Amino acid sequence: MDPIRMIETRRSVSNLVEPAPGPEALARAFQAAVSAPDHKRLRPWRFLVIEGEARARFGQLVADALKQREPGAPVEVLQKESQKPLRAPLIIVVAATIQPDVPGAPPVEQTLAAGAATQNLLLALHAQGYGTAWKTGPAAYCPVVKAGLGLKPDDQIIGFVYTGSIGAPPAAAPPLAHRDFVTRWTPAR
Ligand SMILES: Cc1cc2nc3c(=O)[nH]c(=O)nc-3n(C[C@H](O)[C@H](O)[C@H](O)COP(=O)(O)O)c2cc1C
Repeated sequence: MDPIRMIETRRSVSNLVEPAPGPEALARAFQAAVSAPDHKRLRPWRFLVIEGEARARFGQLVADALKQREPGAPVEVLQKESQKPLRAPLIIVVAATIQPDVPGAPPVEQTLAAGAATQNLLLALHAQGYGTAWKTGPAAYCPVVKAGLGLKPDDQIIGFVYTGSIGAPPAAAPPLAHRDFVTRWTPAR
């Protein structure tokens, strides 16, 4: 496929099924991810693969974390939270370790580099025929979740990338015209 067409056709896929991307497909996707632009070459990104039984343990972690954030949360809500990671055969947690005092590469640029790596990851999985969905939500900003994943409190969770084979193709995206977002700057005389 034409590479630009490949980029344009990426959509979030909610119906993700087995088989998950195998080691070779994942290796290619991670290689694409770490090829993202990265000011000062700080390599802020980290990737945690959660697959198989570990998804249920991760579900327990996010449900326990929700209970700590909201002690009054109904049991059905906690149950639903614990099931979320089972919606895809494989989840990649993209995290960023941010260095606070790098001259020329402030924290926002390190976050952007990790976001660019995440997009590369999505596109490389899409290019290999797999579906993806980039998720965040309160769990991504929760210290309990970070600790449970072995991350430091100051690390950022850029996203939980759900991936797998495409069970059902996503609905077509609403039409979007690039012209609505692009103008040519004309300097004042
Ligand atoms: C930083 C970030 C966080 C996101 N978090 C969520 C999320 O928590 N839940 C969700 O359903 N989608 C999430 N998305 C995906 C967007 O909702 C999705 O990309 C958007 O609806 C456009 O759909 P498309 O991916 O099919 O183009 C997130 C995307 C980004 C970039």
